[in-house]
Amino acid sequence: MITRRSLLRTAGLTTSGLLLPRTLSLAAVPRAWKADPFSLGVASGEPRATSVLLWTRLAPDPLSADPAAPGGMTGESQILHYEVATDEQMRHVVRRGKAVADRTYGYSVHQPVAGLSPGRDYWYRFTSGSAASPIGRARTAPAGRHDKLHFAYFSCSNWEHGYFSPYRHGADEHPDFGIFLGDYIYEYVDKRTPNLPRHHANTECLTLADYRLRYAQYRTDPDLARLHETTSTIHTWDDHEVQNDYADRYSQNFVDPLEFLKRRAAAYQAFYENMPVANVPNGSAMRVYDRFDFGDLMQIDLLDGRQYRSREACYGPPKKGGGHQESAATCPELTDPSRSMIGLEQEAWLFDGLAKSKAHWNLIAQDVMMAGFKEKGPGGTSDNYWTDDWNGYPASRARLLQHIADSKPSNPVVITGDIHSFWANDLKADFSDPNAPTIGTELTGTSVTSPGPPYDLFKSFLPDNPHIKFFESRKRGYVSVRLSRKALTAKYQTVSDINDPKATVSTLKTFVVENGRAGAQEA
Ligand SMILES: [Fe+2]
Repeated sequence: MITRRSLLRTAGLTTSGLLLPRTLSLAAVPRAWKADPFSLGVASGEPRATSVLLWTRLAPDPLSADPAAPGGMTGESQILHYEVATDEQMRHVVRRGKAVADRTYGYSVHQPVAGLSPGRDYWYRFTSGSAASPIGRARTAPAGRHDKLHFAYFSCSNWEHGYFSPYRHGADEHPDFGIFLGDYIYEYVDKRTPNLPRHHANTECLTLADYRLRYAQYRTDPDLARLHETTSTIHTWDDHEVQNDYADRYSQNFVDPLEFLKRRAAAYQAFYENMPVANVPNGSAMRVYDRFDFGDLMQIDLLDGRQYRSREACYGPPKKGGGHQESAATCPELTDPSRSMIGLEQEAWLFDGLAKSKAHWNLIAQDVMMAGFKEKGPGGTSDNYWTDDWNGYPASRARLLQHIADSKPSNPVVITGDIHSFWANDLKADFSDPNAPTIGTELTGTSVTSPGPPYDLFKSFLPDNPHIKFFESRKRGYVSVRLSRKALTAKYQTVSDINDPKATVSTLKTFVVENGRAGAQEA
């Protein structure tokens, strides 16, 4: 295990944790730090065959509420040094250089490191003047023929609703990489739930300063910090990185779209500043969707389900701003084929990538539930759908699933967050026909801490949805996946008690998707 103390001991440094020996060559010392500027730790992301992206953000006072001093930082951008080594003790340094902690972006560092070897661990650290960051582990993606992968995926970590033990247990697995499927932060403050184990440090996020502070608070969580320190990660977002149930420029509470785009710009910038991602925001826009290759074993198409989606069907005051139930009978807009969940440009990019893929497994990593889910409406009829997930965009979903049926990418598997519950679903081009062939598999992971939907109510909808093989909303956790050429094995991991910072982990269910056979089977 990598700890800062063990590093300093190994390097023969002083026990203060901040002082480096004079023999370590540093350029001009930019700053004499009075507090640890690396309080938010380090992270790595964008795992490619020969490169990774290293992240940190200078924050000597991480919870500073001064909008003019994010993380307690003022003044010019800072030059840092970074080192990348092939060993945990940082003895065999293979890359070193200067990195910029950019004032424009909250003194965050996004340092690409190229020319690395595929499919192996590296260790890295940053230094600034007298301060050294923790040593992080990063891992490149494999290249060429490859037979094994191990990864974990996470979604929906609300600080106020519990401790982040799923992150700790995920890190303990030492996966090859991790995937975040959205709701990494929550923008609001829960004023309704009694006895919350902890509280957000500020009010509902509206401005850049608000979102910056929210991310900083989350990154002070030791379990989340440890996951980032030990695991390279891939990130998409869902709604709570901006506002509950927003769609493109349309807010849940009918804010003028041009005004709402200012809030979105602040939220997207804070996301960039705090994540190990390469793409820089451009005003209120930021490219998040991306493709990752893990040798010939797996391709990941990472989707953005928020920025480009059509407005919620039958959007309108006073109550239909975000997710709500609609039936096609009373809301013809629901099935309008011109509407899209991911926008026509991203659809074209995805369809092209799936059609050309030569990967053995094709993972679509995305935010909200894709499988059809009929709900009973107020009148008792089973023809209602939730408008905020793919059920609110059935024509867009049918285009995607029909494209998968036609172009036949090898072993398509969709992984999903958002709904704070575990599911195992057969994917069909036509969910209304129980005899339609299963053409893909959806494995939905539960939340890290956020409370799940009502178990008994959702369970009562299952007889109308025979393609849903498993549902459990009463557990918090994550999903651990091991991949071979023969099978994808997904363990639904749950923690013992979200109110206990030392919660233990156990496996609730294990599902297997066999090579060449769509659909999850319980192991
Ligand atoms: Fe969520």
